[in-house]
Amino acid sequence: MPVDMRVRLGQVDLPNPVLAAAGCAGAGRELAQFTDISRIGAVVSKSIMTEPWTGNPAPRLAETPSGLLNSVGLQGPGIDAFLQRDLPWLLSRGTRVVVSIAGQTVREYGVLASRLADASGVSAVEINLSCPNAEDAGRPFALDPGTAGTVVAAVRGSLRYDIPVFAKLSPDVTDIVAVAGACVASGADGLSLINVLLGMAIDPGTMRPALAGAYGGLSGPAIRPVAVRCVWQVREAFPDVPIIGTGGVHTGRDALELLLAGASMIGVGTALIHDPSACSRVLRELEEDLAAIGVDRVADIIGRAHGGNPQSPPWARPADLTGKM
Ligand code: DHB
Repeated sequence: MPVDMRVRLGQVDLPNPVLAAAGCAGAGRELAQFTDISRIGAVVSKSIMTEPWTGNPAPRLAETPSGLLNSVGLQGPGIDAFLQRDLPWLLSRGTRVVVSIAGQTVREYGVLASRLADASGVSAVEINLSCPNAEDAGRPFALDPGTAGTVVAAVRGSLRYDIPVFAKLSPDVTDIVAVAGACVASGADGLSLINVLLGMAIDPGTMRPALAGAYGGLSGPAIRPVAVRCVWQVREAFPDVPIIGTGGVHTGRDALELLLAGASMIGVGTALIHDPSACSRVLRELEEDLAAIGVDRVADIIGRAHGGNPQSPPWARPADLTGKM
């Protein structure tokens, strides 16, 4: 019996919970050369701004053990080109689309949301509150509950209510539950956890920062335990709020860990850079892992690592999992 992989995203049923995370899949075109993007849960677009933007100067990528630092700086074509060219192309492929938006000001987020209010075919909007490389480097909106809530309210107020809004948060805070709570109170339908951690590398050869912008966002396997912790904490505080779990997912087992922590969808990002078919592979591996532990429906295991669940079936017990995987 195949495992039922369907999950619900607002009004839309996704065929499975594996999404291409924002930033690593552009607007889907590059990935489509290697993998069938209509078969994954959805593509989350690279964060789109109000205007075209060239991003930061090079070098803007640096490899670190188990991770990648980037200071891309929100390079992109702007909302007009996205709506005219990229969104119709993605929809023509039968792909479900989550549009990630990023602004320099609260007003810009509102403008982006009102442009998307008229677009058809958008499954959800992800508010990037946590870009580490915007103009005001080091002070993303997600660092402060009040500021994060203000942006969410501006987006929610300008968008149709049938389009769910997810707020993408930064792990670089003392209390991610406080930021999550402010976003939910301001109208976020869900949360994306986590964006990159702010990091830095220095090249001993040149004795200078490896990135032209000095700081960058750290992603990849190095940050996965941080993602698991954040998803766990937020799920514990807000068990009914859907979470897209993102951060260093490279295998089906990694995806399963985030689902057990409380995510109901999984974003695959940095893995795509060396394996453009990583989403399809993670999906296949996840399905195999679930079948191996006797799970019929992926929806049944969301948040199962949390205690105090009297209905917890035998297969959800840690001893069973460790024995069979
Ligand atoms: C960029 C934006 C992000 O949200 C991120 O996590 C990493 C990089 C950027 O375009 O600079």
